Amino acid sequence: MTISTNDIRRSFLDYFGSNGHRIVPSAPLVPQNDPTLMFVNAGMVPFKNVFTGLETRPYSTATSSQKCVRAGGKHNDLDNVGYTARHHTFFEMLGNFSFGDYFKEQAITHAWTLLTKEWGLPADKLTATVFHTDDQAFDLWKKIAGLPDHRIIRIPTKDNFWAMGADGPCGPCSEIFYDHGDHIPGGPPGSPDEDGDRFVEIWNLVFMQHVQEADAIVGDLPRPSIDTGMGLERVAAVLQGVHDNYDTDTFKALIAASGALTHTATDGANQASHRVIADHLRCAGFLVADGVLPANEGRGYVLRRIMRRAMRHAHILGAKEPLMHRLVPALVTEMGAAYPELLRAQPLIEATLQQEETRFRQTLDKGLRLLDDATTGMTSGDVLAGETAFKLYDTYGFPYDLTEDALRVQGFRVDRAGFDAAMTEQKRAARAAWKGSGAKASDELWFDLAEEVGATEFTGYASDTGQGVVLALVKDGARVTSATAGEQVDVIVNQTPFYGESGGQVGDAGTIASEAGLAAEVSDTSKQLGKLWVHHARLTAGEIKVGDTVTLAIDVARRAAIRANHSATHLLHEALRQRLGTHVAQKGSLVAPERLRFDVSHPNAMSAEELAVAEAAVNAQIRRNGAVETRLMTPDDAIQMGAMALFGEKYGDEVRVVSMGSEDDGKTYSIELCGGTHVTALGDIGVFKIVGESAVSSGVRRVEALTGEAARAYLNARDEKLREAAATLKTAPDDVPARVAALVEERRRLERELAEARKALALGGGGAGGAAAPGPETVAGVAFAAQVLDGFDAKGLRGAVDDSKARIGSGVAMLVAVNDGRASVAVGVTDDLVGRFNAVDLLKRAVAALGGQGGGGRPDMAQGGGPDGTKASAAVDAVRAGLEEVAASA
Ligand code: SER
Repeated sequence: MTISTNDIRRSFLDYFGSNGHRIVPSAPLVPQNDPTLMFVNAGMVPFKNVFTGLETRPYSTATSSQKCVRAGGKHNDLDNVGYTARHHTFFEMLGNFSFGDYFKEQAITHAWTLLTKEWGLPADKLTATVFHTDDQAFDLWKKIAGLPDHRIIRIPTKDNFWAMGADGPCGPCSEIFYDHGDHIPGGPPGSPDEDGDRFVEIWNLVFMQHVQEADAIVGDLPRPSIDTGMGLERVAAVLQGVHDNYDTDTFKALIAASGALTHTATDGANQASHRVIADHLRCAGFLVADGVLPANEGRGYVLRRIMRRAMRHAHILGAKEPLMHRLVPALVTEMGAAYPELLRAQPLIEATLQQEETRFRQTLDKGLRLLDDATTGMTSGDVLAGETAFKLYDTYGFPYDLTEDALRVQGFRVDRAGFDAAMTEQKRAARAAWKGSGAKASDELWFDLAEEVGATEFTGYASDTGQGVVLALVKDGARVTSATAGEQVDVIVNQTPFYGESGGQVGDAGTIASEAGLAAEVSDTSKQLGKLWVHHARLTAGEIKVGDTVTLAIDVARRAAIRANHSATHLLHEALRQRLGTHVAQKGSLVAPERLRFDVSHPNAMSAEELAVAEAAVNAQIRRNGAVETRLMTPDDAIQMGAMALFGEKYGDEVRVVSMGSEDDGKTYSIELCGGTHVTALGDIGVFKIVGESAVSSGVRRVEALTGEAARAYLNARDEKLREAAATLKTAPDDVPARVAALVEERRRLERELAEARKALALGGGGAGGAAAPGPETVAGVAFAAQVLDGFDAKGLRGAVDDSKARIGSGVAMLVAVNDGRASVAVGVTDDLVGRFNAVDLLKRAVAALGGQGGGGRPDMAQGGGPDGTKASAAVDAVRAGLEEVAASA
């Protein structure tokens, strides 16, 4: 019984764990602390800042099994994978680390104990190397392992001086080699035939002591430290008694799955294809699980190259349908227990592989035919024209290295310079076309920059913070090379977790800082030309320069609120469609931290009931707490699967599709094309509250809503108001509506009674102001009853004049009511006097005196008013004078 790869990993971690090391889970493949690295490519990378003392952790020794990718970037093993025994794009590095704790002696003791005691490897199969000047390590190997002098080999090259990169911690190292036996060609390290396969390096012990910059040692680490790295796949081969990593249990299982699904033998001519598929399956699976998705730039393009390279090999094996996604279950079976992220991401990995393969198969056949035609007549060693490789890249989606790989077996090469020239020419033509299209002058700067520094890589779907290299600075619309405290500057970096405003979602805010003392506040982030992220920053301390490495950290609480509002917007969209009908389409949206605003096409105002139903549906989805899933696909596929797309929106050949929520029958609740950031699970939204519904323009309604803390605060504030009202009303909050209704009713009744009382008072001897009503006077021989009443309801004026007429029996009655500075007036003439006096004529005099116009009625009763209530008694005088005038002229 040989030990399985999973057991080897476990036993390594257990050994160091039981020897006082903290077992640290693998960091994600996308480096969190090094902007110049594409992927984590060694076990020590996540600990880089712990070695240099920049970061402290609550432990001084650690052990891990770190996921590593060596494809793209400086360490690139991609080309060899499939054709050798030990190359991988993805591998696991087992390591033990001492951050200023133990040093050489204990590192060598641990390594020797684990290899020979725990794992029982024969000592005579092991050889060590040391840096040529490292006598100490030489002596320790002798003392601890008892190795004879000829098996402790001094190496004078940089093979035994390990450095993370041009910058970073470094030190001499000691490597342990396993001798696979004299039946395999090759010599010990340092010998002329060391490149043979007989002696295989299995473990590298680095004695970290120095720090280098630009490849030169510039100082020492705070304390001597240890970084060791052992390729799990290699040591598994040794412990399982095989010579080839691809013959270990994990790879055998993956290769068997690929053989079974393609009904092909796994050896012979097919061997390389199966190996490529197995290796690339692991790499693609883990990259997707760590948040990388296929793209045409950056990390996403490395993933795409790896996926497509495997897919061509699936094609070679005769696969008629997409194959890779069907291998994911085998990958999860082999590695899911050690890496739960694989299990969690399994649906996404499968969907991503399937989409990519479906899409690539549309052009793969045609591209291969073109390649066949182009290579007809070529013989081994001949070179394919760069233009052909470019056409394959540009039209048929063949990454450059895929074309190289496809030509490898025949011994053809590709003209790289020609390929690059064709690429440059295409960019030049694109620029000319762009300029000719009447683009804005202000865009020119961004276009220049995008071309010069390339697209910004957005890392913010998976991370809230990360490092970036400053590629350009823009101040007041012009490029600058540095800025200092107090200045406002636009910062462009190679990669950022900041979301650039787009699709209704506002840009992120946060901070930019550097070890050199830079501190900057980012108020907003915009996205220029769809690919250049621009951080609008104000420096509060230090300096920023092009070329600096900076740490970018988004305002996490603000983004969490934005995420909640964005996911809630998708749920609201679906809820409105379900309640109002499918004519509801998105017309605009604003996703901000404090609220969301969603405009939809709908002909009339939404009723309270409609809004309540939609709000309840959204909250039901929140409580169901389903996961939010994101996939990449072609727009056509996305729309076919029911994704809601925006009319008139231009989509690239690839779109993100965000799905969330579930119906009772299990169907996905909402599927939308969206590049925004979302919650992981809908429960993160907390609560959803609609706070407004209004018209935007004809046929477009706006719904405003709150989520999470903002919604809670809003509901709380409302509750507080209710409590205040209840206190004032001296009742319980629950009884407020009934109490208010009763009060309103009571007020109405009181108003009625008050009006009655005033009228009675006015006419029955007491004026509204308390003044007694005067009896009628006699003017021109007739009774004239006139009165001015403050605050008397004008509606009762005619009735009151009628009453007055009745009281005097024969005569002229007049009432002026003053309300809010204005006056209303009514004049009545008893029937017996209608022949002599005309109420309308008399009224006109009064109205004129009040600064008004018009007024009218009948000869026995007329009513009008004027703006100047202070002239009320002048109006009475005017009518009196009118009576006298008429009498005199009769
Ligand atoms: N950093 C060293 C390596 O990658 C040992 O872990 O080989």
